[in-house]
Amino acid sequence: MPDKLRIGMIGCGEIAVQTAKGIAAAESAEHVMVMDVDARVARDLGETHGVPWTTSVDEILSNPRVDAVYIAVPHYLHAPLTIQALRAGKHVLVEKPIATTLEDADRMIAAAREAGVKLSVAYHAQVDPACRAVRELIADGAIGRVVGTRIVYRGDKPSSYWHGGYSGRIQTDWRTSRAKAGGGVLIMNTVHDLNTIRFVTGLEVTRVYAEYDTFATPVEVEDYIALTYRYDNGAIGTLEAGSAVRGRDPLRETNRIYGETGQIILANPPRVFVSEERSGLRAGEWQDVPVSSDAPAGGRAAIVDGFARAVLAGQEPPVRAADGRAALAIILAAYRSGQEHRAIELPR
Ligand SMILES: NC(=O)c1ccc[n+]([C@@H]2O[C@H](COP(=O)([O-])OP(=O)(O)OC[C@H]3O[C@@H](n4cnc5c(N)ncnc54)[C@H](O)[C@@H]3O)[C@@H](O)[C@H]2O)c1
Repeated sequence: MPDKLRIGMIGCGEIAVQTAKGIAAAESAEHVMVMDVDARVARDLGETHGVPWTTSVDEILSNPRVDAVYIAVPHYLHAPLTIQALRAGKHVLVEKPIATTLEDADRMIAAAREAGVKLSVAYHAQVDPACRAVRELIADGAIGRVVGTRIVYRGDKPSSYWHGGYSGRIQTDWRTSRAKAGGGVLIMNTVHDLNTIRFVTGLEVTRVYAEYDTFATPVEVEDYIALTYRYDNGAIGTLEAGSAVRGRDPLRETNRIYGETGQIILANPPRVFVSEERSGLRAGEWQDVPVSSDAPAGGRAAIVDGFARAVLAGQEPPVRAADGRAALAIILAAYRSGQEHRAIELPR
C-alpha cells in the first residue's frame, strides 16, 4: 500500500489556497497538480506549491499520477465536476455543500459506487478531536437524553464579499446567485454546523420549519434565516443565521446541546455541565471537555489526512457522502418550508 495519496486540485480560488497548505502539511497526502479555468490562479497556486498547473480538466483527470482530486468550485459545479472525476476513476473530496439538489447528490453517490472509488465532503467535525470527544460524551450518556440543540451564526459580511469572497482572489458573482450558490448563509455557512450537530449527537432531523428573507444585502440569496426542527429521538433544534448582523456578537455565543441531565457548549475548547458525576466529569460545575492530547491537530490538514488515510486503507472516509447528503436534505427542506410556509417532513 502506498503511504501517500497523490492529490490534484480542481479550483484554485479562495479556499483552495488554505487547502493546498493542508495537503502540504498532511502526512498521508502528496500534492501533485492543480487545475482552474482561470490560468492566473492556477499558475499562482501551482508555482507556490511547486506542482504542475493546467486549465484543462481533461488533463488533470487523465493524469495517472493523480489518485484523487479535491474540488473547490462554485456550488452548482460540484456535481458535474465530481461525477466527471469519479468516472475517470479518481477518488473525490468535494467542498461543502455536497451539491445544490438531492438528485445531484444521489447521482454523485451512485457514480462513486459504480466506479468503485471513494467520495467524501470537506467537513471538519468528523476529524476534529474536540467534536469526537463531545460525540463520545453524548454517546456515553453524560448529558442524558438530548432534548434540544441550538445553532447560532452571526456574520457581518463586507459588501466586497459578494463579488470577491474575503480575499478578492477571484472576481465572481456566484455567491449572490440562488442558482449558482443554492442559497445564502444557511447553505454557505451553517451547513458546517448542521454537519457538526448531526455528528456529535448522532441524531437525524425529521421535520423542518423555516422563515427566511433578504433584508440588507443586494443579492438573491437569504441574509437572515431561522429554523425550528424535530429530531428522530423527539428533541427540538433551532438555528439562527445571518450574514448581515451588524456588530456581530461581542459575547461570541456559540452552538449548544441541551440534555436531560447536562449541557454542552461547542466552544473552543468545548465546555460541559453535568448534574450527575459521570464519564469522569464533576457534577454541578462547568468544565472543559477532556480532549485527547495525542489526537492529531484539527484544521484543513486533518480533513485531507483523514480522507487520504481512509482511501489508502480502502475504508470509508470519516465524512461519508451520505453525511453530505443528510446536511443538504435539512437545508433544502428549510428553503422549501420558507417558500411554502409549512413544515416539511424529511424521509426517515
Ligand atoms: N470548508 C470551508 O470552510 C470553506 C470555506 C470557503 C469556501 N468553501 C467552499 O469551497 C468552494 C469554493 O469556494 P471559494 O470561496 O474558494 O470560491 P472562489 O470563487 O474563490 O473560487 C472558486 C474557483 O473555482 C474556479 N472554477 C470555476 N469554474 C471552474 C471549472 N469549471 N473548473 C475548474 N475551476 C473552476 C474559479 O475560477 C475559482 O478560482 C465552495 O464550495 C465553498 O462553499 C469552503
